[in-house]
Amino acid sequence: MSYHHVPVMLKEALFYLNCRPGKTYVDGTLGGCGHALEILKNTEPDGRLIALDMDKDAIKNARERLSGFGSRVTLTHHNFSHLPTVLSRIHTASVDGILVDLGLSLYQLQESGRGFSFMRDEPLDMRMNKDETTTAADLVNRLSVKDLKMLLWDYGEERSSMKIAEAIASYRQKKRISSTAQLAAIVRSAAFKGGRRQIDPATQTFQALRIAVNHELKTLEILLQSAPDLLNRRGRLVVISFHSLEDRLVKNKLREFQKGCLCPPDFPQCTCGKKPTMKILTSKPIRPDQEEIKRNPKARSAKLRAAERL
Ligand SMILES: C[S@@+](CC[C@H](N)C(=O)[O-])C[C@H]1O[C@@H](n2cnc3c(N)ncnc32)[C@H](O)[C@@H]1O
Repeated sequence: MSYHHVPVMLKEALFYLNCRPGKTYVDGTLGGCGHALEILKNTEPDGRLIALDMDKDAIKNARERLSGFGSRVTLTHHNFSHLPTVLSRIHTASVDGILVDLGLSLYQLQESGRGFSFMRDEPLDMRMNKDETTTAADLVNRLSVKDLKMLLWDYGEERSSMKIAEAIASYRQKKRISSTAQLAAIVRSAAFKGGRRQIDPATQTFQALRIAVNHELKTLEILLQSAPDLLNRRGRLVVISFHSLEDRLVKNKLREFQKGCLCPPDFPQCTCGKKPTMKILTSKPIRPDQEEIKRNPKARSAKLRAAERL
């Protein structure tokens, strides 16, 4: 098994993290170690890296790939939403940078056999963390039509959400849905195909299920909320996201940190007393350049946002 991935916006991520020797950084989404390796190289000789991944395969691969860096690296199989606990367990109150590069690694998409892609016929699983109990098959076979519709609408922005939910419910009355090929065929038969839709009709359904199985938006929100308290003064938060739901969450949260006050706009005076905690460093999201997109077309939807602790 090789846990591979092509890191996205590597130089941009390093620039915004502002890596320096003697400092401590968190990579919340270790994956194939692409960003982690460069963070370690750019903080020689004594910078520390605390790296998390909720996929045990990523941690196993990293034990080998990062072994040369010895005690400079701490690897841990955790969701990044548990970062405060992880840091307190290793007696680290705060760090100088936190990076999260969201979504799936190429290994997970192409080799894990966990049904993340409708291009392959695999068991409908989609768990990044195999210790979790609910799979995508559990959701499509158990949820009511109403809940399925909401899931497809909320996490996939799928216009045909009702039709797809009904098609799933009708199919599962005859047979359990257990493979990606079954689900992709059901979605393709039910989804609206005209208009501006240029992608496979199954794309949004697969995205929605993956987000739901891995609680992706909830865990991102928890991480963002805790970030200012975990960063040293002038410490950096860097987030690379791949779809509009994630990017919107990051944009809004960073704006909230920069603004401070949470009082409704029609309040004559601030009563919440909240002060700004972060300064936004990227007024617009940073996108990969054309050369990177040519080399790695999967990078084309990436957006990077960064902010600094005040
Ligand atoms: C896009 S890959 C990261 C690639 C990595 N930056 C590299 O250069 O190789 C995303 C990784 O983050 C992990 N991941 C996604 N969400 C996570 C979360 N909430 N907590 C911990 N790991 C997560 C996935 O299991 C996957 O290995």
